[in-house]
Amino acid sequence: MPDATIKTEILIHDLKVPISVIDAGAKSLLNRQESYGPLTEKQIKVLKRIIRNTLATQRLVNDVLELGRSREGVMILSSFPISALVTSVLMEIFDFSDPGVAEVIRKTKTYNELEQVIKASGTGLSFSPKVWKTMVHLDQAKVRQILRNLVTNAFKHRASFVEISGSIKENQLILKVKDDGRGIPLADHKKIFETYFTTGSSIESAIESHGLGLAGVMVLLKDMGGTLVLDSDDGKGAEFTVTIPL
Ligand SMILES: Nc1ncnc2c1ncn2[C@@H]1O[C@H](COP(=O)(O)OP(=O)(O)OP(=O)(O)O)[C@@H](O)[C@H]1O
Ligand SMILES: [Mg+2]
Repeated sequence: MPDATIKTEILIHDLKVPISVIDAGAKSLLNRQESYGPLTEKQIKVLKRIIRNTLATQRLVNDVLELGRSREGVMILSSFPISALVTSVLMEIFDFSDPGVAEVIRKTKTYNELEQVIKASGTGLSFSPKVWKTMVHLDQAKVRQILRNLVTNAFKHRASFVEISGSIKENQLILKVKDDGRGIPLADHKKIFETYFTTGSSIESAIESHGLGLAGVMVLLKDMGGTLVLDSDDGKGAEFTVTIPL
């Protein structure tokens, strides 16, 4: 690995500590008002925004480090059920957008319970009971990062619903993420996988859209010998299908 890359990665790695200090500080102010003093509604709102954004930063740091590991061909394999993969991705996403729902998801015990909880937020699941319980042997952090990026994009662009489905065929894990948003015109199908390509134009979306998600997904997939198929067009919603050999 070139020297400059190592230095950048160490620098990114070292961001972890200050970010957790910021996070812990904001959480103390919010949750321990008896010792830090009472807060106004407006102060609570600002603190919650700080906490949400430290979470987003922590995630970016971890994703970049995971990509670094991928570049070096480092695989950390473990066995885990599909249910744990999907549930943890949903928790990560709701932790950011709706922590109350994330808490409820954390407590669900069955597929049906989980389905009911997320249905209220316009999210559907489609897994057979057998697939849901299947144990797979993969690099969980990498698969989670792939699924989280696709689901986050679907949430960002949907009109009203997102569906996550999964199956296993010929010893391959197939995950599909579908939304009913404005879709992606055929002319952009290649471009969206390039680094820093986003369709957002306002300053707001420049902060929220880095155009790194899908480029990262492709790096991770290539690493695992997987593929991605995009089915979408202008006004037709989008469906991303990921296939990973088991
Ligand atoms: N489900 C989707 N529906 C419509 N457009 C999408 C969808 N997913 C991705 N795109 C388009 O592809 C572009 C690139 O996506 P990508 O995930 O790489 O970056 P991003 O979401 O803009 O930012 P981030 O780095 O935070 O993921 C997006 O800006 C968007 O224009
Ligand atoms: Mg994205």
